[in-house]
Amino acid sequence: MAPLANTLTLVPGGTRGIGLATAKLFARQGSRVVILGRDLDRIHHVLDKELGPISPSTSPALNHIGLQCDVSKQEQVDLTIKELSKVAPIDFLIHSAGIARDALLMAHKAEDIESVIATNLMGTIWINKAVAKGMMRRKKGAIINISSVVGIQGNMGQTVYSASKSAIIGFSKSLSKELGSRGVTVNVIAPGYIDTDMTSSITEVRKQEIMAKTSLGRLGQPEDVAEAALFLAQAKFITGQVLVVDGGLSL
Ligand SMILES: NC(=O)c1ccc[n+]([C@@H]2O[C@H](COP(=O)([O-])OP(=O)(O)OC[C@H]3O[C@@H](n4cnc5c(N)ncnc54)[C@H](OP(=O)(O)O)[C@@H]3O)[C@@H](O)[C@H]2O)c1
Repeated sequence: MAPLANTLTLVPGGTRGIGLATAKLFARQGSRVVILGRDLDRIHHVLDKELGPISPSTSPALNHIGLQCDVSKQEQVDLTIKELSKVAPIDFLIHSAGIARDALLMAHKAEDIESVIATNLMGTIWINKAVAKGMMRRKKGAIINISSVVGIQGNMGQTVYSASKSAIIGFSKSLSKELGSRGVTVNVIAPGYIDTDMTSSITEVRKQEIMAKTSLGRLGQPEDVAEAALFLAQAKFITGQVLVVDGGLSL
């Protein structure tokens, strides 16, 4: 039997980049996957072309699921998780939804600052709050929140993004203490530079600089982070930890 057969994995941000690679990896391990994003066309594309059916014989009613949900809106999150609770309990949450709006603080537009905090920090809080309830009741589950190495080290032009990502670490460590006695683990992955839409505007020169500083001499791929998520999802005695997945960039 597939290692994750009969499990449900929720991946907010599962329509692109790290979240999509994670959704595909968990699906290959036999888990039924639920992806969340704001773009309905993109959700349909991922369900049809990237994830496909769980198996040729699976009834469409039991296949992978994609739902439109803006994680920065608590009402949408609560409604989505309530609907999902009618499908099956959530075993794994890999929260990958996030945005970057880089600017020096003095030039940072108020609306961009608010969007970054609303999506990256508040989105993590709303999703974790809604999902943790069911996991606590079942005394079972693993939560993995995606932070960033810049949440640990800081970075010029990313004050607000870094703040949102540092906050995810404090939030997750605290939540791991609240949920530990219920058998639920909460961990964080802090990726370095990963080759996704989010980093597509980085210039070739900057990419070469980053690779030169990275021990493994390359940018990360979304699959590198997905593998770390799969490891943490199955780790029974690891909680409240931050796993840096950056090829040695931050050493
Ligand atoms: N790429 C990197 O180098 C890197 C490094 C460190 C950390 N990270 C973090 O890793 C996570 C994934 O990044 P990525 O590189 O995979 O980015 P990406 O390719 O831009 O994908 C971001 C995903 O988040 C979803 N999303 C954004 N805002 C949302 C919202 N309000 N509600 C629901 N879904 C939302 C997007 O879907 P829609 O736009 O359709 O909603 C998309 O599926 C982010 O938290 C990012 O901060 C990335």
